[in-house]
Amino acid sequence: MEPITVAELLPGYEPYHDKNVNPVYKAQVHTDGQGEISAFVKSIPDHELLMECVCALIGRALGLPIPKPLLVIAAPDSCPARHDIRKPLFGSEAIDHPSARRFVCPSGDIDPHLYQFFCAHLEQWKQLKEAALFDEQIANSDRNGGNYLFDGQQFYLIDHGLAFAGLFHNVISASQPVPDNLFLSILSSQDEVSRKRTQKQLRTPLAALGRVDIQQAYDHSLFNHYADDLSIGENMIEFYRQRIDHISDIMSQQLGIKPHDNLLDAYGTW
Ligand SMILES: Nc1ncnc2c1ncn2[C@@H]1O[C@H](COP(=O)(O)OP(=O)(O)O)[C@@H](O)[C@H]1O
Ligand SMILES: [Mg+2]
Repeated sequence: MEPITVAELLPGYEPYHDKNVNPVYKAQVHTDGQGEISAFVKSIPDHELLMECVCALIGRALGLPIPKPLLVIAAPDSCPARHDIRKPLFGSEAIDHPSARRFVCPSGDIDPHLYQFFCAHLEQWKQLKEAALFDEQIANSDRNGGNYLFDGQQFYLIDHGLAFAGLFHNVISASQPVPDNLFLSILSSQDEVSRKRTQKQLRTPLAALGRVDIQQAYDHSLFNHYADDLSIGENMIEFYRQRIDHISDIMSQQLGIKPHDNLLDAYGTW
């Protein structure tokens, strides 16, 4: 697993608006490894910063298309208004394409052909199952259209600040499904044969998830260098480990299929 990249915020950043909840800036940042790069940078509380960094590091280690996460340090002359200068900002290396919000626009004024094009791509996205599993493991119900990007072919996952929902808002326990897993809901609405195929195809990604070193992801996030309350990190690790023990059953439950269904074998290998 890669360590987090620490970057320095350069002056000249601009506010960015995509119905985002937090103040987000389109910025240039300086990194030791890559020099100057473009990034989306936001000022968020400690616990959201931890979730963003840990989820991006885990997801990237699993091969999911998540932009490189950055811990962005602001100097006094470049610190955004109302940001606590003692804290890093969260940065996400810029992808040169907008969010999927333009396709899943709530006002419904999207061209139906474009909408169909988008849905067909999403349903056939080769990493849809892995992404659905990832969101379920990190207990993320916040995969709205602003939180994934689409370049016409490929999808990118961003904004994991509200992951581990069960930890902070008592939404779910570690053994319960998340109430709203967008990618998984696409797979759950398919016919029974497809759902059983999905369950079977999840075996390899489930094994990969089980091999993730959550302690290493936490250490790489550098949380203990800036956080006021380190117990958040301990609770996050505990929640992740508990959930790993239940994730296979949770996925089967979400797919509407009995866990360890022997009938699976009757379908052979796809
Ligand atoms: N790495 C990135 N590449 C391209 N656009 C991004 C990236 N990160 C964020 N954005 C854009 O900024 C918006 C807000 O970022 P997000 O992390 O979702 O903030 P918030 O937590 O306020 O919702 C996204 O909806 C997207 O349009
Ligand atoms: Mg967002």
